[in-house]
Amino acid sequence: MRPQPPKWRYFPVRLGTAFPSIFFLLPLLAFLQIPPSTAQITVYYVEGQRPLASSTATAASTNYSGSAAYNPTVLLAPPPPGAAAMPTSFGIDLVTSVPQGASILQSGNFFGFSIEMSVVNQVLGKNSSLLQVPFLNLMANIQQRSGGVVVRVGGNTQETASLVESTSDGRILEKDLKGSTNPTQTPPLIFTPDLLHMLRAISSLVNVHWHLGIPFNDTTNLRLAIAERGQAILGDYLMGLQVGNEPDLYADHGHRPMGYGPYDYFGEFSTLVQAIENDTNIPNKGLLIGPNLATGDWTPEMVWNTGFVDAYSANLGYLAVEHYPTDNCFAQFGIGTPRDPQETFPNFLNHTAGQALIAPYLNSTAYAQTKGKKLLMFETNTASCGGFVGISDSFGAALWGLDYAMQMAHSNFSGAYFHVGGQNVYYNPFTPPPTNQSSYKQWTVGPIYYSALVMAETIGPSNATQVLDVQANANNIFTPAYAVYEHGTLVRALLINYASDPSGASDIYVSLSAVVGGTPLPSSVQVKYLLAASVAQKGNYTWAGQTFGSNFASDGRPAGMESVQTVACSSAAGTSVCTVRVPAPGAALVFLTPGALTETAGAASRTFATTAATRTENAVSIDPAVLATSNGHSGMGRVLGSTSHGSENGAVGNAGIVPSGLLGALLGVALGAVMGWEGSGMVLDFCLSLYT
Ligand SMILES: *[C@@H]1O[C@H](CO)[C@@H](O)[C@H](O)[C@H]1NC(C)=O
Ligand SMILES: *[C@@H]1O[C@H](CO)[C@@H](O)[C@H](O)[C@H]1NC(C)=O
Ligand SMILES: *[C@@H]1O[C@H](CO)[C@@H](O)[C@H](O)[C@H]1NC(C)=O
Ligand SMILES: *[C@@H]1O[C@H](CO)[C@@H](O)[C@H](O)[C@H]1NC(C)=O
Ligand SMILES: *[C@@H]1O[C@H](CO)[C@@H](O)[C@H](O)[C@H]1NC(C)=O
Ligand SMILES: *[C@@H]1O[C@H](CO)[C@@H](O)[C@H](O)[C@H]1NC(C)=O
Ligand SMILES: *[C@@H]1O[C@H](CO)[C@@H](O)[C@H](O)[C@H]1NC(C)=O
Ligand SMILES: *[C@@H]1O[C@H](CO)[C@@H](O)[C@H](O)[C@H]1NC(C)=O
Ligand SMILES: *[C@@H]1O[C@H](CO)[C@@H](O)[C@H](O)[C@H]1NC(C)=O
Ligand SMILES: *[C@@H]1O[C@H](CO)[C@@H](O)[C@H](O)[C@H]1NC(C)=O
Repeated sequence: MRPQPPKWRYFPVRLGTAFPSIFFLLPLLAFLQIPPSTAQITVYYVEGQRPLASSTATAASTNYSGSAAYNPTVLLAPPPPGAAAMPTSFGIDLVTSVPQGASILQSGNFFGFSIEMSVVNQVLGKNSSLLQVPFLNLMANIQQRSGGVVVRVGGNTQETASLVESTSDGRILEKDLKGSTNPTQTPPLIFTPDLLHMLRAISSLVNVHWHLGIPFNDTTNLRLAIAERGQAILGDYLMGLQVGNEPDLYADHGHRPMGYGPYDYFGEFSTLVQAIENDTNIPNKGLLIGPNLATGDWTPEMVWNTGFVDAYSANLGYLAVEHYPTDNCFAQFGIGTPRDPQETFPNFLNHTAGQALIAPYLNSTAYAQTKGKKLLMFETNTASCGGFVGISDSFGAALWGLDYAMQMAHSNFSGAYFHVGGQNVYYNPFTPPPTNQSSYKQWTVGPIYYSALVMAETIGPSNATQVLDVQANANNIFTPAYAVYEHGTLVRALLINYASDPSGASDIYVSLSAVVGGTPLPSSVQVKYLLAASVAQKGNYTWAGQTFGSNFASDGRPAGMESVQTVACSSAAGTSVCTVRVPAPGAALVFLTPGALTETAGAASRTFATTAATRTENAVSIDPAVLATSNGHSGMGRVLGSTSHGSENGAVGNAGIVPSGLLGALLGVALGAVMGWEGSGMVLDFCLSLYT
């Protein structure tokens, strides 16, 4: 049912409080959550306080009322499958030259990030001279292993964004409340060129390339400034320009008339192409990305069959889709299908998960190859509408993300960007702290970041990597494995064990055999492990012995000594066999040649420390547009959106931000003053949206 178009009013509510006493707000929030039908009040900025659909939370967390990103709920790990369903000892005979069925050439920057446009000033920095140092460190870790990182800035909020020369208070990004005429849309963003200068400043320090989105809400009045200024400011660091975010959901979300179809998109794309061809301020006309389907209401084939790729081939830099395996919209918005996290957890803990997710695109990756184009997974994560508590923020998600991304590489995608929202989501690869006391080592690094790190090292920096799912253990769904080739030669193997079994009975023993380049495997191989005690564990995962800790514990640099295991191989009759144990749960990256290990070690990671912290806007606020709301969430556009109020916000600060001009001078300088979490003040700055 479509709600009546309401009149809009925004009530900024500022509540100064010390964070622990956020609990005192609960009665107020309870009052505000009187069902809309009676009170006609919808509160969008306190999603973290909403009861979740699940009743499986542990006792300690059932009454948790803070931000989703730090929800302590721990699920129960599913019981191990048992030896009958999952044999624990098996061999993999690796083929040394690239076998039939291996992927197209892949680059180390395959696994990237998608950052919702409205949160870039929290995640990336305040402006071009104040960058988030932990973000730089997180990117540097991946660059060290893979050569570079790709970040997409966009999402639902790109569609109505407008570039302005300046804002009245000097911020690079604001919500234009006056521009919010349509109640089914979140208020549009305005941003200044300094946002683009900020991206460029980041690229001068770490090798990050960017995708941006051209606003597509109104193709009769195109706003191409982001393409013009983006190319001028970012130069070659701008990889692509997305045209239309999930156009197959436009009609559902009220952004286009009902009946809007693939040919309508084709036509609007044509208008944009003409405008770009006419625009001398957009010198590179070949960066466009389409069709960016959520694959909710349209299949990719419906767009391919319009002749889209041939018609716009010269202008298309990439083809892309966006997809999430499921949604958690009921818990976040009270619409859609309720899904219990505990019951849903096993769906993420086997090899079928990633395969099922991309099955609708296998024809498209083949099709893209016939057209000489690359297909990207432009936005994805564990579940739309913020992910699931206990799943998206557990070690299980690290294994899921790694297997899913490797499956995409095997299946001829050319990149996958995992979404980053605000404090109000569970699935963030990394989350900056909400308050200013977190001046150092206060970021929260989630499981998906570990997936990214391991994937970077698995693919490596050669740009000539091919991936093959070897269907290990008779294609057992709990023990997937991949072989990795570089320049035609076997270099690494990735082994995954989804089972969770502290007894050790579900640890797997994988006997790798191969003849590499005409000679047997070396007498020993090196192994790095991705580990945690259980798939349900939150935080403190380790990759090769290093960790980013649990909540509020990281400055983006891995802590601890790196540990690389050596596994001796036995050799007989010209073949050597290396038996690698993979704990349950865990993943093992096996380096099959000495060079395979050293190439991904890269140059010593350049990391960034800071002595400067600054106050910046990072309110605890919920912007529904920040939640990825693609597939499975057809009602989203009809949900009333609101926004964080754009007013001054005196007491909310942020941390680990450093003037970029000082970075060189500050490299390697450690910060002494670490401020505690408790006791510092912060402001909840949220708005109520009222029907009147
Ligand atoms: C959670 O709230 C309920 C109802 O107020 C209360 O009975 C229960 O003791 C609380 N649980 C915890 C762990 O605080
Ligand atoms: C970035 O913000 C800081 C602090 O508000 C300000 O001093 C600086 O001038 C800003 N830099 C730019 C390029 O606007
Ligand atoms: C598109 O967005 C711009 C900027 O937010 C806004 O001014 C314009 O009215 C919107 N157009 C349509 C048709 O929604
Ligand atoms: C592009 O230029 C052509 C020729 O000058 C003109 O006919 C057309 O309307 C222009 N299209 C757009 C979208 O600006
Ligand atoms: C694959 O995609 C092409 C292009 O859209 C289409 O013609 C073909 O029918 C599709 N094949 C399958 C099996 O869906
Ligand atoms: C494996 O994952 C799939 C896809 O999510 C799910 O449907 C299936 O139930 C899972 N299998 C087991 C045994 O948990
Ligand atoms: C990936 O592309 C290669 C080269 O075209 C092909 O041999 C292979 O079968 C494809 N893999 C999948 C899963 O489609
Ligand atoms: C890999 O490709 C990237 C992007 O095109 C390029 O910057 C890098 O130099 C390449 N690396 C190698 C080893 O060729
Ligand atoms: C993570 O490790 C730290 C340091 O060992 C410990 O204090 C903390 O309790 C651990 N957190 C979790 C969630 O296991
Ligand atoms: C953080 O907030 C506290 C309390 O409002 C204030 O005293 C302190 O100066 C702030 N710190 C920074 C670095 O802004």
